[in-house]
Amino acid sequence: MVDIHTHVLPFVDDGSESYEESFKMLECAVKDGVTNMILTPHNRRNFDVKKEKLREEFIKFKAEVEKRNIPINLFLGQEIHVSNNYKLKFERDEVLSINDGKFLLIEFYFHKNVDMVEVVYELVNKGYHVIVAHLERYTYATLDDAVQIKHHGGFIQVNAASILGKNGFTCKSFAYKLLDRGLVDFVASDVHSNRKYLMKKAYDKVKKKYGEDVADSVFTNNAKPIIEG
Ligand SMILES: [Fe+2]
Repeated sequence: MVDIHTHVLPFVDDGSESYEESFKMLECAVKDGVTNMILTPHNRRNFDVKKEKLREEFIKFKAEVEKRNIPINLFLGQEIHVSNNYKLKFERDEVLSINDGKFLLIEFYFHKNVDMVEVVYELVNKGYHVIVAHLERYTYATLDDAVQIKHHGGFIQVNAASILGKNGFTCKSFAYKLLDRGLVDFVASDVHSNRKYLMKKAYDKVKKKYGEDVADSVFTNNAKPIIEG
């Protein structure tokens, strides 16, 4: 499996607070069958660590993981928050794409501040492959928004926890509506601590309901172009 959305890189956001915690998170992921993980610290107010600093922290962390022989490939990205002035971040070159390629992971406010379809459209026009993080968690998002995001060349990521009902009934129900219509490109953990890692459980659930091919696509195969550049 490939986990494309995680807060495992320590000290840089509201995710892991220590190397030990991060190692435990990675060990849980490996146990679940994750072979590749993208570290996507928040790029948002209160977590505005400069990208050069993130690169430094990533290199140090990766070296420690290798020393411990944890069998997982790590890549760096960011979860970029679409604030009202998000365009400035791009103009100032303050955002990290995933693995320095064309894929971007973006998240929105939990209340509506912008038209998400328009944002995806604008970023796709700049040449990015835009992944909308946990679409099922925005209560204002509609199925039509999902269709439009895909129509404009965007991608949709759903959280493993939502599939398992851990984010409430509304998120779960929206996640399944998206899956029913084949609108989900990626399922990821969005893991913040070592307490719960749910990728395998969510994989089993998706496999049971939609078959192995769908499960393999959304948990593994669709993410290959991201890490292979
Ligand atoms: Fe996240």
